[in-house]
Amino acid sequence: MERVDFLVIGSGIAGLTSALEVADHGTVMVITKKQDTESNTNYAQGGIATVLGPEDSFEQHIQDTIRAGSGLCNRRAVEIMVREGPQRIINLQRWGIEFSYYYENDRKVLALGREGGHSRERIVHKADYTGREVESILVKRCQEHDSIRILEHSAAVDLMLSRNSGRARCVGAYILTREGELEPILARITMLSTGGCGQVYLHNTNPTIATGDGIAMAYRAGARVSNLEFMQFHPTTLYPSSDQAFLISEAVRGFGGVLRRSDGEAFMKRYHPQGDLAPRDIVARAIDQEMKNRGEDFVYLDVTGRRPDEVRERFPNIYSHCLSRNINITKEWIPVVPAAHYMCGGVVTDLGGRTSIPGLYATGEVASSGVHGANRLASNSLLEAVVLAHHAAGRVVKELIDTTEPEVPFTPDIPPTIYTEEEWVLVSHDRFQIRKLMWDYVGIVRSTLRLERARRRVDLIRNEVYDLCRRARMTTGLVELRNIALVATLIIRSALRRRESRGLHYTTDYPDRDSSRPPRNTVLVRRRRKSSTV
Ligand code: FAD
Ligand code: SIN
Repeated sequence: MERVDFLVIGSGIAGLTSALEVADHGTVMVITKKQDTESNTNYAQGGIATVLGPEDSFEQHIQDTIRAGSGLCNRRAVEIMVREGPQRIINLQRWGIEFSYYYENDRKVLALGREGGHSRERIVHKADYTGREVESILVKRCQEHDSIRILEHSAAVDLMLSRNSGRARCVGAYILTREGELEPILARITMLSTGGCGQVYLHNTNPTIATGDGIAMAYRAGARVSNLEFMQFHPTTLYPSSDQAFLISEAVRGFGGVLRRSDGEAFMKRYHPQGDLAPRDIVARAIDQEMKNRGEDFVYLDVTGRRPDEVRERFPNIYSHCLSRNINITKEWIPVVPAAHYMCGGVVTDLGGRTSIPGLYATGEVASSGVHGANRLASNSLLEAVVLAHHAAGRVVKELIDTTEPEVPFTPDIPPTIYTEEEWVLVSHDRFQIRKLMWDYVGIVRSTLRLERARRRVDLIRNEVYDLCRRARMTTGLVELRNIALVATLIIRSALRRRESRGLHYTTDYPDRDSSRPPRNTVLVRRRRKSSTV
C-alpha cells in the first residue's frame, strides 16, 4: 500500500499552494482527476482581488465582502483573507507568476481591474487569462520539487477512515487509477482541494472535473457541510453555451461594458444604484427577469464604447474566442446568459483548513471557511484559496510533527461486476437528467413547489445510481455521477431549509430576509442510519 505524509486531492490553486508550502517538511502526493492543469483555476479570467491601490483600504475591501455576503460572512475570516492578500500576491510573484502591469515614472506598477460589488479598482490580473498563468506556473514549481509527486488521471473515490482509536480519523483515500484499479493511499494528513460543483447544473462555466467530489466524499465520511444553497450564477456567459459555458468576465463591465436588452435599453440602473457593477446575484437575477419578461433567451453586453485596440489588449482571450464564434466584440454586442459558476458553501473548516474529521483538511472552493457568506464577491475566491491554503499548510506542518504513522484500516471489497455498454448509457442519461432538473427547478429564482419536485425526482435517480454503484465496476464516470446525485440532493435540502431569501438564495415563497432571528448557516451532517443511503 502506498504511504505518504501529505495527500492532496486536486491540482488547482488551493491544492498546489498547500503542496508547495508543505513539501519541505514531508513527502507529498497530489492526485488529480485529469491532466494536471485541468481545474477551475485554469479558466479564471478576472483575477485576484487585493488591496494595493493608493485610494483603497483593507476596511473597504472587508466591507465590500461583508456587504455581498448578506449577513453570513465570518468577519475574522474575511479580515485574514483581505489583510494577508498583498503578501500572498508577492509570494505568487516569487514563484514566477507574472501579472499585467504598466510603468509610472519608470516604476513598474501592477494594473488593477474593477469588478461588480467592489468599491475600488483592486483586481490583480494577467490580461483575461489570469488562471492559466497561475495554474501553469504552480504546476511547474510542483514538478520541480523533489518531495512532490503529481498523479494525473487518478480520481479519489472515497476517504479512508480509521476508527481504531475510537473517533474516526481520515488516513488517506481510495483512488481509481489511470488503469481503472481501486487502490488505497495511506496518508498522515489528507487535504481536499477538489474545487467546485458547477457541473451539477446543465449550464455552467466550470470544466467537467467540477462534479462536487470533495463535498460528496466528505459528507459520506461524516464531515459537516454547509451553505450549499448558495450556488453563485455568473451573469454573463456567451450564448449559446455548451457543456462548459464560455465566460465573459465581469472585468468587461468593469472596463465600461453595458448590459442591454435587445431593444437597446441599458436596464441595470433600474435594478441597483451601482448599475452594471452591482453585486453578481443582483445582476444575474435582473438578467433572468428581463429574459422572462420579454421571452428572450439572452441579453447583450456592449463594450463597443471602448476603443478597439484597448479592448483587444485588455481581453485577448475573450476577443479571440468570440471572433471564432463570428462575433467581433469591438463592433458588435455580445449575446450573454447567466450560468452556474461558484459554490459559496462546502465542507466546514476552521481558519486553518481543519474539517470536523481529524486528519482531514479542506481548502479552496470545496471549503466553507466563512469568507463568502451567502454570496461571494468577485475575484475573492482565488484570494481565499491562496491565503487559507497558506494557513492550512502551516497547521499541516505542525500536525505532521505531532502525528504518528496511521494505522491501516480494512481494505474495501471491490465488487467483481462486468461493466456493459448499456450501463454507460444509464450513466450519461442520469447525469443529464439531474443537471437539467437542477437548472430548471433549483436555479436563480426558486420556489418551494419546484424544490420539492426536484427533491423527489433527484431522490429517485440517486437511489438508482446507488444501486448501479453496488453492481457495476467503478469508473470515473460513475464516481462523478454518484457525487453529482448526492451534491444535488444536498443543495436541494439546504435550499428547502432556508425559509427566506438571502444572498444567492432567492425563493418566491419567502421573498424577504428573515429578520426575526440572527442569520444562520445551513449545516448538514450525514445521519448514521443503517437503512439510509444518503
Ligand atoms: P480547482 O481549481 O477547481 O481545482 C480542483 C482540482 O481537483 C482539479 O485539479 C480537479 O481535477 C481535482 N479533482 C476534483 N475531483 C477530484 C477527484 N475526485 N479526485 C482527484 N482530483 C479531483 N475566481 C477568482 O477569484 N477570480 C476569477 O477571475 C475567477 N474566474 C473564474 C472563471 C471561470 C470560468 C471559473 C470556472 C471560475 C472562476 N473563478 C474565479 C473561481 C475560481 O477559479 C475557483 O474558485 C478556484 O480556481 C478554485 O480553486 P481550487 O483549487 O479550489 O479548485
Ligand atoms: C470573472 O472574471 O467575471 C470571474 C470572476 C470571479 O468569478 O471571481
